[in-house]
Amino acid sequence: MTTRRRFTLTQYLIEQRRRFPSASGDFNALLLDVALACKAIARSVAFGELGGVLGNPSNEVATTVNVQGEQQKKLDVISNEYFTQMTEWGGHLAGMASEEMDLPYQIPENIQRGKYLLVFDPLDGSSNIDVNVTVGSIFSILRAPQDVIDSGRDVVEADFFQPGTQQMAAGYALYGPTTMLVLSVGNGVAGFTLDPNLGQFMLTHPQLHVPEDTNEFAINASNSRFWEAPIKRYVDECLAGKTGPRGKDFNMRWIASMVAEAHRILMRGGVFMYPRDTKDASKPGRLRLLYEANPIGFIMEQAGGRASTGQKPMLSVQPTSLHQRIGLVFGSKNEVERIERYHAEPAKDVEIDNPLFAKRSLFRD
Ligand code: AHG
Ligand code: MN
Ligand code: MN
Repeated sequence: MTTRRRFTLTQYLIEQRRRFPSASGDFNALLLDVALACKAIARSVAFGELGGVLGNPSNEVATTVNVQGEQQKKLDVISNEYFTQMTEWGGHLAGMASEEMDLPYQIPENIQRGKYLLVFDPLDGSSNIDVNVTVGSIFSILRAPQDVIDSGRDVVEADFFQPGTQQMAAGYALYGPTTMLVLSVGNGVAGFTLDPNLGQFMLTHPQLHVPEDTNEFAINASNSRFWEAPIKRYVDECLAGKTGPRGKDFNMRWIASMVAEAHRILMRGGVFMYPRDTKDASKPGRLRLLYEANPIGFIMEQAGGRASTGQKPMLSVQPTSLHQRIGLVFGSKNEVERIERYHAEPAKDVEIDNPLFAKRSLFRD
């Protein structure tokens, strides 16, 4: 048997850096620290019940509900610590922000501060931890504002309010049957598979591309009564299948780990929707802009797909708060553009003859 020569993540990053001869290497070093945190999380996830990491933190732990009012799992807390501890020491970061931390994280006084901001969801899909279904970590790297770099001052929330187009890199790790790291440094999207013997991410998917067309969609249909008309119309038409306006049958998937749905879509196409809805007026969408929608949006766009709020490109949104929620639609370009068109068109009567939205249906009395 001949062994196939593969690039490691480190080699890939060095190759990418050749495009910027004056680059210091800080950026690559930071990405390798992020990858290390992901490897550590992958080990914790893999031990499951044996590692004592499933379930909720004990009552002695002060923070069991995060800033968004969501119950934190033990692994949410552990994963957050891996991220902060494995990336703060290197001297590359000016500060961090995470789903699991109310306020920006300050690099301790005794550690050198750098020019980047790291934003992350340490564990996405954490409702799936206890049932042994794929979860992942999502991250985004921004450049810190110049006055932060010059002064080394503490970071404030507003330092992170940069539209997604400003991301220097974004990616995710997937803790599934195999552990993978999917990354974009702004030059396409590459996928790496963790070789458990070597403990190294190996380049297995050098140039990921999202097919433009699809017949697969993902949405939590239990929210259908709260959807806005354009989303109702889109799903309606998918469900109507071959005999409906789309003239073809669609398939549906819902893992409830957005990162896993993003990966499926990168591998074989599809469209994911967690749109703005009327369920809770205080929450314009379920997912968070800075550490869920923007990094996944960046990956999608770099892979030839599209990410949108429904109304406008996700990466053009000006953030206004750290834990801001937003409606998110991403995936195969032609489907996302169709959904955007439905939002732009004047409202139509969506009560077409369809089992999901008929006057009497599965989802209505
Ligand atoms: P998190 O675990 O980081 O809080 O995110 C979970 C998100 C996302 O991954 C997933 O798509 C969605 O929540 C699931 O929502 P439902 O509970 O409505 O299925
Ligand atoms: Mn999440
Ligand atoms: Mn999370």
